[in-house]
Amino acid sequence: MAQFPQLFSPGRLGRIPLSNRCLVSSLTRASATESGLVTEQMKQYYLEFAAGGWGGVLSEAIYIDEKYSQGYSFQPGLANVSQTEHWAGLVEAMHAAGAKFIAQLFHGGAVNQGNFWVSGSIAPSAIVPKGVQISRYRGNNGPFQMPQEISRDEIFEVIESYVKAAQNAKAAGFDGVELHGANGYLPDQFLTSYTNQRTDEFGGSLKNRLRFHILILETLRKALPDFTIGVRISQTKVNDLEYQWPGGDEDAKVIFPTLEKAGADYIHVAAHLGVTPVFGTDRSLSGLAKRYTSLPVIANGKLHEPALAEQAIAIGEGDFCSIGKGALADPDWPNKVRSGQSTRSFVPDMISPYATLDNYYDWRSQHS
Ligand SMILES: Cc1cc2nc3c(=O)[nH]c(=O)nc-3n(C[C@H](O)[C@H](O)[C@H](O)COP(=O)(O)O)c2cc1C
Repeated sequence: MAQFPQLFSPGRLGRIPLSNRCLVSSLTRASATESGLVTEQMKQYYLEFAAGGWGGVLSEAIYIDEKYSQGYSFQPGLANVSQTEHWAGLVEAMHAAGAKFIAQLFHGGAVNQGNFWVSGSIAPSAIVPKGVQISRYRGNNGPFQMPQEISRDEIFEVIESYVKAAQNAKAAGFDGVELHGANGYLPDQFLTSYTNQRTDEFGGSLKNRLRFHILILETLRKALPDFTIGVRISQTKVNDLEYQWPGGDEDAKVIFPTLEKAGADYIHVAAHLGVTPVFGTDRSLSGLAKRYTSLPVIANGKLHEPALAEQAIAIGEGDFCSIGKGALADPDWPNKVRSGQSTRSFVPDMISPYATLDNYYDWRSQHS
């Protein structure tokens, strides 16, 4: 502990007190039942993080309605009573093991390659997403389908679904929710200039492209005044690793304070390299979120080297570090780092050919 005083100091995300600054980043595993129910295998998987000494665990992306929100086959949902009850069993076990657990609320929009409930997809504009379906998440490597442009009425229906899903998350016992506003999914499709060609108040200027995030956060905040509500945001996407906010630092100066004003309790930045400066500034994207707001910020992106994570917090790139692949590789990462042991490194075979739990446990049984 003396070696990493920042990483292992207590902190707070909204109303959630955390014993340290190490968080499991959201990891889609496409391993629920076909109708989006949590399984016993998922429970065992999450409980490994609960035993690993993490300050908090962010759930995989969970879809919010029985309509277009599901993006991946075998993704879990928080859209109905049965899904909520299944999560409740898992959340209770996580709490019994001393973990804090936040639900990530997801709408895939145009990035939809597997949906149990409906066919077709919706998006800010009728534009086929870049790239191909992601085979790791059970996609078929072919192009995404052409989405339908979402109507104004449907936008407000989707916002209501976020609220219902957040209420379900609360009923299931989660400590908070995180709006997945990043990585190329529906909210990010509004924010991104090339996937949003709308001419109404949801398209055009940065303020308009950010309106969907804002309305969701404001509506969630109003419906759940005492619940912790975070937001995840990024430049890059699952299907585009190059995109940058067109206004650079000027966009960051607008985006982060606007999310704060809309009621977010924390900002979680998704990035590939969490401590690389952006836009010619001296700060990473998470560092800019800290610079332009007074909210707690979670830095992310290749921070599994403890010294790097420690430094990220020390120099103000974030207040917390979320770790994805490093957590998947070694659920015991914080316990080991704290006691000076080496951690198991990530290898792509852990999520290849599929990011599923079956694939993962097969890999582990062959490499134990
Ligand atoms: C298998 C896998 C699944 C992921 N699923 C999600 C997800 O459900 N939600 C999300 O916001 N990010 C997801 N991500 C991104 C991670 O949360 C994280 O931002 C990314 O892996 C970079 O952090 P790292 O370098 O520590 O892995 C996923 C990444 C991987 C490798």
